[in-house]
Amino acid sequence: MNTPTAFTNIKLQREDGVTFVVLNRPEKRNAMSPELHREMCEALDELETEDETKVVVLTGAGEAFSAGQDIKLYFRSTEEDARGRARARRDSHHWRWEKLSKYAKPTIAMVNGFCFGGAFTPLCACDFAIAADDATFGLSEVNWAILPGGIVSWNVAQVMSFRDAMYYACTGETFDGKQAAAMKLVNFSVPRAELRDATVKFARMLMKKNPAALRYTKECIRAVRNMDVQQAADYLNAKSDALRYRDPEKGRAEATRQFLDEKSFKPGLGEYKRKKQVP
Ligand code: COA
Repeated sequence: MNTPTAFTNIKLQREDGVTFVVLNRPEKRNAMSPELHREMCEALDELETEDETKVVVLTGAGEAFSAGQDIKLYFRSTEEDARGRARARRDSHHWRWEKLSKYAKPTIAMVNGFCFGGAFTPLCACDFAIAADDATFGLSEVNWAILPGGIVSWNVAQVMSFRDAMYYACTGETFDGKQAAAMKLVNFSVPRAELRDATVKFARMLMKKNPAALRYTKECIRAVRNMDVQQAADYLNAKSDALRYRDPEKGRAEATRQFLDEKSFKPGLGEYKRKKQVP
């Protein structure tokens, strides 16, 4: 594994199963450069299979979550460099969407401040999002006389309501964390001073769940959105059967035993007692 000091544009902070992946160019408001994209690809690949990480939290150093793609290093510097542009595009798309949206472990975007343009893709790709009340969100592209490219337009059309996506993309108006929570772009917002604790508390709640069931559940919620009801029924039956065999904890049998025989838990009110913690 690349040690945290080997990265220069990001940093990793491990906290008892919760790994914070911090975009670390605070002096540039964590604008995403080609090098940052490369490091993110590497870090997410590694964290996905390391035992120490159970939940990944994506956030930014300093005042920003991320001010979007780096206008100088991602756009202007690659204008005359087709190979460099292609590589940057590939890496950028890989971690911000391909990797995060299919991640084997739960992912949380912790939006601590400015979140603009291209930063909406990882925001939408994460399974969950929690914002500071005073975070500033903006689809600022229109102010640059460009459109929300990469896949940002697609992301916001999926996650935001049609009216909100259209309104904020066409006006470039900013909105804060409380508004983002009201429109369900993020799950909830909290005062900035409480953001980290609230995120860790949420991550720890996820860590108590059976990891295989949680992984299959998040895959299913994403997959069925693009299926008709018959396809969904077939897919979910197949995934349910697969989960029975792929869960090393045999959680279903254990939960059934605890509920029916031991009468030691009520599944409607909390999770079964796991015997062993596995990645
Ligand atoms: N690309 C490249 N550099 C960026 C950047 C970006 N997306 N966002 C910020 N920076 C740089 C600034 O150029 C400045 O660099 P400098 O110190 O060399 O002058 C530094 O980060 C700090 O930015 P500054 O504007 O002084 O900070 P601020 O706190 O006053 O404002 C923002 C923060 C995010 C509101 C403002 O920087 C901004 O509007 N950035 C562009 C956001 C955007 O539209 N992103 C989408 C791009 S499609």
